[in-house]
Amino acid sequence: MNILLTGGTGLIGRALCRHWLAEGHRLWVWSRTPQSVAKLCGAEVQGVGSLQQLEAVALDAVVNLAGAPIADRPWTKSRKTLLWDSRVKLTEQLVEWLGKREQKPALLISGSAVGWYGDGGEHRLTEADQPVSTDFASQLCNAWEERANEATVLGIRVVLVRTGLVLARDGGFLQRLLPVFKLGLGGRLGNGRQWMPWIHIDDQIALIDFLLRQPAASGPYNACAPTPVRNADFTRSLAHCLHRPALLPVPAAVLKPLLGELAGLLLGGQHVLPQRSQEEGFSFRYTHLDSALADLLMHP
Ligand SMILES: NC(=O)c1ccc[n+]([C@@H]2O[C@H](COP(=O)([O-])OP(=O)(O)OC[C@H]3O[C@@H](n4cnc5c(N)ncnc54)[C@H](OP(=O)(O)O)[C@@H]3O)[C@@H](O)[C@H]2O)c1
Repeated sequence: MNILLTGGTGLIGRALCRHWLAEGHRLWVWSRTPQSVAKLCGAEVQGVGSLQQLEAVALDAVVNLAGAPIADRPWTKSRKTLLWDSRVKLTEQLVEWLGKREQKPALLISGSAVGWYGDGGEHRLTEADQPVSTDFASQLCNAWEERANEATVLGIRVVLVRTGLVLARDGGFLQRLLPVFKLGLGGRLGNGRQWMPWIHIDDQIALIDFLLRQPAASGPYNACAPTPVRNADFTRSLAHCLHRPALLPVPAAVLKPLLGELAGLLLGGQHVLPQRSQEEGFSFRYTHLDSALADLLMHP
């Protein structure tokens, strides 16, 4: 297949490119730094700085993953604008461009996050549920999904991937926690009861590939292992895997003044289940956090 990716240079995009190159697909990545694409994504992947460079390419699918990192820094007004523009405006631009093309891809797989559901507390959430609460992350995901869904009017099938925390060897959330946990300075966040939907990077890639190959897939899919854990359990498992103590909880009263609204993302969570993909025949390789962490940390 001929596949265009946005955000192809990111954690998920790089792994997808590696996987799809090996499968024989032809890949293009729309990037702010097209010159770095071959190095990051694979020598055969073509980087483009502008969508107009793709006029002559017959695309089968588009995978839209671009977005500035959500938890890197506090959500000031300007940070929120960047988070919004790099997802919502970029998707708007992408769909507008698709609308002008004579040859249209059959499928748009577009990113989203479990944050779409807001802080779900103890609710068990599947794709059939509506958001439980609305915070900035939920509004952002909602607008991001809405812009992507506009491609359905063009006759393009739209799949939305509501991703949980992606656990990987070469970046993302886990790699940020490791230095602190290796020093024995890890600890639960707040009361530690918030749910943390997680997914091993290999399952994330396998699920996106599965959705690419399902001719009837459309709408939202939760991309998270079928066994979400609470923050306290995640903390215990990670510390146990590293043979370190994790006795230093970070109280909500410390996180809130430090991080402002962003603290809500860490102190809240969702008990999300990947109902649709499992019903449609997808099997997760890593269903338990301990085995996922063991794989990632013991085979670096
Ligand atoms: N990783 C997770 O745990 C996780 C969880 C839930 C949802 N997601 C979502 O899934 C998507 C992919 O995740 P990821 O972890 O692979 O992301 P990532 O590593 O942070 O990479 C995202 C890509 O987005 C592009 N980007 C960054 N800032 C941008 C900006 N200001 N304007 C336009 N493009 C920008 C970059 O591509 P260029 O530099 O090539 O332009 C970057 O490679 C993201 O949108 C993320 O929100 C990820």
